[in-house]
Amino acid sequence: MKKLFITTAIDYTNGVIHIGHAYEKILADSYARYQRKKLGDSNVLFTTGTDEHGTTSQKAAEKRGLTPLQHVTEISNLDQEQIDALNISYTRFIRTTDEDHKAKAEEFFQKAYAAGDIYKATYKGFYCEGCEAHKTLSELDEKGQCPNHPSRQIQELDEENYFFKWSKYQGFLKNLIESNELEIKPEGKRKEMLAFLESGLKDITVSRPKYKVSWGIQTPVDSAQVIYVWFDALINYVTEGLPKGFWDEDTEIVHFVGKDIARWHTLLWPAMLKSVGYRLPNKVYVHGFVNLNGRKISKSLGNIILPTELVQKYGVDAVRYYLLKQGPIVEDSDISEESLKEVYNSDLANGLGNTVARIAKMAEKSGFVFNDLPSIPSDDYPFEKDFRVDLVLAHLKELLGNLDKHINENEPWKIEDEEKLKAVLIYEVGEITRIAKLYEPFVPNTSNKIIAQFSNSHIKAQEGLFPKIK
Ligand code: MSP
Repeated sequence: MKKLFITTAIDYTNGVIHIGHAYEKILADSYARYQRKKLGDSNVLFTTGTDEHGTTSQKAAEKRGLTPLQHVTEISNLDQEQIDALNISYTRFIRTTDEDHKAKAEEFFQKAYAAGDIYKATYKGFYCEGCEAHKTLSELDEKGQCPNHPSRQIQELDEENYFFKWSKYQGFLKNLIESNELEIKPEGKRKEMLAFLESGLKDITVSRPKYKVSWGIQTPVDSAQVIYVWFDALINYVTEGLPKGFWDEDTEIVHFVGKDIARWHTLLWPAMLKSVGYRLPNKVYVHGFVNLNGRKISKSLGNIILPTELVQKYGVDAVRYYLLKQGPIVEDSDISEESLKEVYNSDLANGLGNTVARIAKMAEKSGFVFNDLPSIPSDDYPFEKDFRVDLVLAHLKELLGNLDKHINENEPWKIEDEEKLKAVLIYEVGEITRIAKLYEPFVPNTSNKIIAQFSNSHIKAQEGLFPKIK
């Protein structure tokens, strides 16, 4: 049996995750749930977590008068609450402060050092704390700021660091990506990564001096240095305590990441793995950003929405459905509460909820015992290719539309012949159950409710799944 390992990025703990981060979790979760149906629960590993070291978390803690560990623990717990509210079915929530992760990070660093890929030198140049990344002048805007974090003062560093011989892996990476041995989706991102490679890789620092950043994992080769936060964070995917057998040859490994961190996953991570002699991931799926009301979601703009706020108002499945309907976002996609409400009313209240209610009412009224439902084969949906979840949802909507049409054309309420009525209702109950099963990866609670309702031999009409909202 094939095994599959699905990951999301692990989130920084300078603040609690917002609805933009939630998009990636929901996308990966629906893929994990879909694959579990095909491969079996124990053959799918799905991880998420928090990236807790580095300057931004350290500074956020200082600002609040807390120790870094107190601060990151609080944020990590709040993140987990958000993720749980979204019904994300992760197998393990990894914190980079977990002991088994720290041990692995040290071991990994040591191995790369022993392989001759890590050396000490001076770094002189810029650093963006928002990205937790070193920047060249050409990566800054005309004001000399990081375009992704214009409100943060760019840092000028002149310090002793350990460097990783990234440049040594340029040819290896080019071949890896060109041959599609590492698949990068969508195609535009693959091209972008290749173009970046063409411009030439420079060795990259993988440690910071403790007197500058004390909040990190000490390097095993020098007690005055901590492991650079990106080197540390990527290693979360091979954390020691993860179920065994998922970083093996016969496993498929898929990383879901946002466009801003594609480079780390497609270019640095494979080089790190190669250096220590580990196997490589198969696929990196890169998604674009969710904007809110036409604006980037950011603390400094003050337009943060927490997933729990929307879940409380509209229910978890409505939030999941709405975000998944955006599809695999390539560049950016705009969301708003207004359009969430529209989608809720049209697709969930009038669509799915209404069809379920119609069939349940007719089934209850008929008084029939529904215990001999035919098994109707499930369609396999076009999900695997490029994660086109939007197409799957459109397909399911079409199935619901066909079922509604079946009801309207057959007018079961007018059928007097008992046998004929039974045949029509059995088909409709069977079909709504089948469709509900197909919806499971996307709206699991709703799907389970529908399946439970129609599995009862005496079907009862129940409260509406999605009461209409004004
Ligand atoms: N800590 C790093 C990732 C390390 S992975 C080894 C990081 N953290 S983050 O909190 O800034 O972002 C986490 C993920 O959320 C990234 O994949 C990022 O692209 C994604 N998103 C952050 N804001 C987003 C939106 N507005 N929309 C969609 N995804 C967003 O980067």
